[in-house]
Amino acid sequence: MTATAQDHALLELRGIVYKYGAISALRDVDLSVRKGEAVCVIGPNGAGKTTLARVAGGLYRPAKGEVLIGGEPLPRSPHDVVVRGIGSVLEGRHLFVEQTVTTNLELGCYRSGLDKATVEQRLEKIMTLFPVLRERAHQRTSTMSGGEQQMVAIGRALMAEPQILILDEPSMGLAPKITGEVFDALASLREGGLSILLIEQNAPLAFELADRGYLMRQGAVVVEGSIDELTHDDVVRSAYLGA
Ligand SMILES: Nc1ncnc2c1ncn2[C@@H]1O[C@H](COP(=O)(O)OP(=O)(O)OP(=O)(O)O)[C@@H](O)[C@H]1O
Ligand SMILES: [Mg+2]
Repeated sequence: MTATAQDHALLELRGIVYKYGAISALRDVDLSVRKGEAVCVIGPNGAGKTTLARVAGGLYRPAKGEVLIGGEPLPRSPHDVVVRGIGSVLEGRHLFVEQTVTTNLELGCYRSGLDKATVEQRLEKIMTLFPVLRERAHQRTSTMSGGEQQMVAIGRALMAEPQILILDEPSMGLAPKITGEVFDALASLREGGLSILLIEQNAPLAFELADRGYLMRQGAVVVEGSIDELTHDDVVRSAYLGA
């Protein structure tokens, strides 16, 4: 048997259907992320990207289809999903903004029963990745800029040392400079072997990070391929690359 992408998929979505009442947000979506791969999903407003991120991260259960992590069905409890190695950085970030940066980071692994030294080591790694978080460690998170808060949200997901990080539009609302810092950090995490599923409206930015990508429209995947293939696709070029 020849090896296929599916054989090596770390995260795999097969035939996913998701509905909000009568609205079909995902219509038979197949998607995979291999180990060490960065995959992006682009698409217009309402395409189903956030719904996809939530299904992939185990937050929504699909009406049909399956989500597999390492070839096994995704566990039902959100905690077990984290234990299986999926970290999610959701739209809106969902931080405890009245708490300090450090407290928010620590919440990323509070249920894992890690000893204090391990938690310290993980905090240290994240503060090396995002030096501004070290400077602001004891600051209330609400007083941080949007970009800094995005770093906290990413850092919190990393505290559980996931195998794959799912991000829903991490650049949304951020100034270009800080977006660059966030994406530089994602690139270095990827270099370190982390798999990434990146939902992003900013296609040029997403294409810099990703190996492969999917274009979604109205709940379905309409184009998929390597970044090279996508950058030569007429639909992608006209809608996303200003060509
Ligand atoms: N809670 C909800 N109840 C009903 N419909 C919803 C709900 N959330 C999303 N939808 C609908 O499902 C479809 C997909 O929405 P989704 O948020 O996944 O799209 P998206 O691609 O993330 O859009 P955006 O780019 O605006 O973030 C849209 O038609 C949206 O209106
Ligand atoms: Mg969205």
